[in-house]
Amino acid sequence: MLDEEILQLLRESPSSFLSGEEISRRLDVSRTAVWKRIEHLRTVGYEIEASTRKGYRLIRSPDLLTPSEVRPFLGTKWMGTTIHHFHLIDSTNSKAYELALNGAEEGEVVIAESQKKGRGRLGRQWLSPLFSNLYLSVILRPEIPPYQASLVTLMAAVATADAIRKFSGLEPLIKWPNDILLKTKKVAGLLNEIHSEMDRIHFMILGIGVNLNMDRKMFSKEIREGATSLKIEMGQSISRKAFLQCLLQELEKWYEIFLKEGALPVLKTWRELAQIKGRPVKVTSFGETLVGVAIDVDPDGALILKTEQGERKRVVAGDVEYQAKNVVL
Ligand code: BTN
Repeated sequence: MLDEEILQLLRESPSSFLSGEEISRRLDVSRTAVWKRIEHLRTVGYEIEASTRKGYRLIRSPDLLTPSEVRPFLGTKWMGTTIHHFHLIDSTNSKAYELALNGAEEGEVVIAESQKKGRGRLGRQWLSPLFSNLYLSVILRPEIPPYQASLVTLMAAVATADAIRKFSGLEPLIKWPNDILLKTKKVAGLLNEIHSEMDRIHFMILGIGVNLNMDRKMFSKEIREGATSLKIEMGQSISRKAFLQCLLQELEKWYEIFLKEGALPVLKTWRELAQIKGRPVKVTSFGETLVGVAIDVDPDGALILKTEQGERKRVVAGDVEYQAKNVVL
């Protein structure tokens, strides 16, 4: 907290020095405490010039995702107004769930610089090295029945893909239900969790992981072939702050569209971004494997496919692999 307050003061006078005495007086702490925090801020990447007579001046901030770094630039109306930031955490989803159980409001966001136990779908692990990528969880409290929760999941996939499209100028593809691919490789994934009773959602957690600054060698051997990052695809380092801004703006926009206009615009854009019609797919769902051709997503977000045996199947949860070439339906 003191760090944030010191940074706030230094940011207020970007071109002039602020004396240690002035900072200690305004924050009501000792000059030694100020000096110690300045030293700490330097170790986490802030470039702060110090002059014995004049005091301190902030030269450059690192690409950290702390509330004071992020909030002034977000440009959202309500999403991310409260940011819970962690250097290292088990999983932002677990933390957001805990906060939501304790009354956290819609739009509160949990962000971590790294995760010890980043969770992927179907019990998988999500690689979460320090300062490289985006790991965030958003708390939502939509007033919809639980069977419509998968539409919020599709909405989040649309928002994430749209953010990637706008930020990079590349053409992301959504793989059902909510993987985001760039040139067939996964760049982002969503793990959405729900807390509800039979006819009412208490809250949803949208957990979003986007590979921003991963180099190829940073991926484990097992996933290297199928994974990518924006840095790899764009050939340049990515400002996590700038991408976060873009992502939260898209999420806020798409969630409001969903609440005001319902599922139709979300499904329309999901279909454009997923190009699923006619794709030969192999689907694993609750231990069963289905091979066939994808037909569509239905209004509840379930995948509809025609199996090799000619049966029409509806899949509500599972994993999809794309097979060879498309079929014209
Ligand atoms: C997947 O594609 O399997 C989903 C990956 C979701 C990863 C994100 S990172 C932030 C949030 N916290 C987690 O533990 N998981 C999600």
